[in-house]
Amino acid sequence: MKLGIIGSGMIVQDLLSFVDTIEEINLIAILGRKKSQEKIEALTNKYQIKKTYYNYDDLLNDDEIDTVYVALPNHLHYEYTKKALLHNKHVICEKPFTSNIDELDELITLSKERKCLLFEAITNQYLPTYKNIKDRLSELGKISLISCNYSQYSSRYNAFKKGEILPVFDINMSGGALMDLNVYNLHFVIGLFGKPENVEYFANIERGIDTSGIIILEYPTFKAVCIGAKDCAAPISSTIQGDLGCIKIEGPTSVLSDVKIIKNDKINESIEVNSNNHRMYDEFKNISKYIDNRDFNTCDLMLEHSKIVMDVLTKARKSANIIFGCEKDAK
Ligand SMILES: NC(=O)c1ccc[n+]([C@@H]2O[C@H](COP(=O)([O-])OP(=O)(O)OC[C@H]3O[C@@H](n4cnc5c(N)ncnc54)[C@H](OP(=O)(O)O)[C@@H]3O)[C@@H](O)[C@H]2O)c1
Repeated sequence: MKLGIIGSGMIVQDLLSFVDTIEEINLIAILGRKKSQEKIEALTNKYQIKKTYYNYDDLLNDDEIDTVYVALPNHLHYEYTKKALLHNKHVICEKPFTSNIDELDELITLSKERKCLLFEAITNQYLPTYKNIKDRLSELGKISLISCNYSQYSSRYNAFKKGEILPVFDINMSGGALMDLNVYNLHFVIGLFGKPENVEYFANIERGIDTSGIIILEYPTFKAVCIGAKDCAAPISSTIQGDLGCIKIEGPTSVLSDVKIIKNDKINESIEVNSNNHRMYDEFKNISKYIDNRDFNTCDLMLEHSKIVMDVLTKARKSANIIFGCEKDAK
């Protein structure tokens, strides 16, 4: 995979810290804003990136690049992904995929027209531990309850309280606790149990944006609660409860680094977790292989999953009356 990176923020710097350990990835270029030239130059020097672009069209016209990784604020995912597909590039787009389901539907249709592969960068779906959890679910018996809590006090919330609105809390940039953190819980639950019958979001809203909130997902025979908070903290953990036992995950559903299965008969066992790889390693390793092999079947399966999550996100926000800037324009 011949990669062009779009953006130079926190998540890009995470990727750069280990990308050279994935043999399938040939990092060709990075795109930055002129105003951040110093930062871009420091990154290109540190990580030996071959080319630097400050204009998106120039990067998209580079034939050496076959795939772009869109790692920009949420509201730009749709526009940058669409433009890349129109240039016949494969795309890996950061989570949340888009601002709503209509945008995602359009991108998926376009990707098929262009015969391009399109993936959402969502760590948990690619972690070996996730598959291990899936394989052990039947040992829990009849599932009754799932509870996932990803609450992390954000330093950016201090700025928000003072009136400085950074992207993650910006209604015009598709921010909020649901899009930033609770989205991992939704991917986690939906990847294991599929599409829920009903969705409702009870959100704490300040300045029009959810700073924290609780989603209830109703399945025919069990219920799931997903909590995401950026305005308060709690020990981050999740449980899947059945009549024979439960699976307990310490830490966020984006990482899955500490997982136990606890049976009613008191047998307590750790579920095998990934090696010490970076949490994004498996996601990029696998996606680069799918792209190199033009694996459209796996791409379709992953898109089906992402679509359900985006549909739930869209319904959840509607139920809490959270309307993004781009959606106000569309009305
Ligand atoms: N941080 C994480 O741990 C994490 C984890 C998983 C996923 N993500 C996802 O990754 C995406 C980026 O998050 P981040 O934490 O890396 O954000 P970030 O640190 O704020 O970086 C955002 C990047 O986007 C660029 N940018 C901002 N506004 C732009 C505009 N109008 N036009 C073009 N470029 C613009 C910024 O450029 P400048 O450098 O010039 O300001 C910066 O390079 C988000 O969708 C987020 O949900 C983040």
